[in-house]
Amino acid sequence: MQFDILTLFPNLIRPLLAESILARAIDRGLIQVQVHDIREHAEGRHLVADDYPYGGGGGMVMKPEPIFRSVEALLTDSEPRPPIILLTPQGRVLTQAVVRELAGHRRLVLVCGHYEGVDERVRQHLVTHEISIGDYVLTGGELPALIIVDAVSRLVPGVLGDEAAPDKDSHSAGLLEYPHYTRPPEFRGWPVPDVLLSGHHAKIERWRRQQALCRTWARRPDLLRHAPLTDEDRRFLGQWIAGLPEDDT
Ligand SMILES: C[S@@+](CC[C@H](N)C(=O)[O-])C[C@H]1O[C@@H](n2cnc3c(N)ncnc32)[C@H](O)[C@@H]1O
Repeated sequence: MQFDILTLFPNLIRPLLAESILARAIDRGLIQVQVHDIREHAEGRHLVADDYPYGGGGGMVMKPEPIFRSVEALLTDSEPRPPIILLTPQGRVLTQAVVRELAGHRRLVLVCGHYEGVDERVRQHLVTHEISIGDYVLTGGELPALIIVDAVSRLVPGVLGDEAAPDKDSHSAGLLEYPHYTRPPEFRGWPVPDVLLSGHHAKIERWRRQQALCRTWARRPDLLRHAPLTDEDRRFLGQWIAGLPEDDT
């Protein structure tokens, strides 16, 4: 999987690629992340990449020419055109389903805005996708681009030690994930649930499924509307909800 990140601030991005799971994935050649400085495609002695907005108002706008040139420098006629994704709070909101879609491509080009954003002609005539990481506004698209790199890379075979891990995560199978515990078995008088120490795999699986159902119901009941539930899941949830004190239901 190849990611090309286009930004005015490459140094905001590079340190986060130099640690932990992403760094190992890059070392092992499972993912490639190229960070491109848009300013290298700006013109003039001062390499100006942003300018005042037409019509007035505060803030600067990223100029179209350096962004177009940066993207065009990456594309070749011999390769199919990859998705060219603008990070913007006005885009489609990133969910695990969108992450899965993106992971189906072999290359993604991520364009980071900054300041007031990018000249509208970039959105109209260059990018193919617009993605938001949520309904709030950040100073730049660098963190959103890294979030996409991180979330998509987890789905690339070999990047995670446990190949099945992404399937069990929250939002993958429509539910929030069950709680995790590690050693010690008792910490400050708070024990690990007995079932997890029992070694009984079927019971552990059942407990985890039930915990995932209860958590999802308590924290994100909206997810249950679309989650693929079995008859046993529904029976269990019905009994659990009926047993709750009235204030909690
Ligand atoms: C201050 S924001 C610009 C916001 C823009 N003026 C607006 O209201 O839509 C600067 C840049 O940060 C990035 N950004 C900010 N919030 C984002 C979000 N929620 N998702 C993705 N990118 C975001 C975008 O690349 C954007 O161009």
